[in-house]
Amino acid sequence: MGRGAAAGALLVALVVLGAPPAAGAEPLIGVFQEMVQSECHFINCTERVRFVKRFIYNREQYVHFDSDVGHFVGDTPYGEEVARYWNSDPEWMEHRRGAVDRHCRHNYELSTPFLMERRVPPTVSISLVPPSSSQPGPGRLLCSVMDFYPAAIQVRWFQGQQELSEHVVATDVVPNGDWTYQLRVLLETPPRRGLSYSCPVEHVSLEQPLSRHWEMPPDAARSKMLTGIGGFVLGLVFLALGLGFYVRKKV
Ligand SMILES: *[C@@H]1O[C@H](CO)[C@@H](O)[C@H](O)[C@H]1NC(C)=O
Repeated sequence: MGRGAAAGALLVALVVLGAPPAAGAEPLIGVFQEMVQSECHFINCTERVRFVKRFIYNREQYVHFDSDVGHFVGDTPYGEEVARYWNSDPEWMEHRRGAVDRHCRHNYELSTPFLMERRVPPTVSISLVPPSSSQPGPGRLLCSVMDFYPAAIQVRWFQGQQELSEHVVATDVVPNGDWTYQLRVLLETPPRRGLSYSCPVEHVSLEQPLSRHWEMPPDAARSKMLTGIGGFVLGLVFLALGLGFYVRKKV
């Protein structure tokens, strides 16, 4: 693996949904959530690794351990109490400090084949977003880049051979929750007739950029008019032929 950071998180969550009240007790109403989140940050493969463990109650982190710091730090007054209590146990703290090797480095080696080397190529499509009241006109071109892994990706817009670097807006790379990501890149300037547009995608899973092309389909009104003219001309031809036969027969 090259440089760059990769992070893995192991999530252990305990959710108590509207806990049933004990007989005679006041009913507990609401959602109570205790979450413990372990993170391994691989800053340079296994050369530089950071282990962070967060304790979160109802979305609020109250205490955490950071291997760069080496002990628990409270994030709330209650968390400070918890941190003092945990930090005072040397044996358990030794165990915590070992997690960066035991948990992170070990799992990195273990998961390399299916995690670090995981490659899923994107599917790419271009669609025309219909005009809206805020953006009238012929609509806008949207490049949808779906279901790829890992997250790092480059998507550009071209008009013919010329890259369009302005008026291009991209969403964040959105995780789908199934170890794939998606991204959409909108061209804010309306497409012009007769020009070709493309959005080449570069990704580690692809040997060469994957590109889709788009051109404005023929104008419906114009093609109807052309069909009409064609029909009229054809009609004239038959009329002329018919008249020709008629005149010959008479002669
Ligand atoms: C990453 O670690 C390697 C040793 O494995 C070292 O040679 C290299 O300089 C490190 N890279 C960075 C960016 O720190």
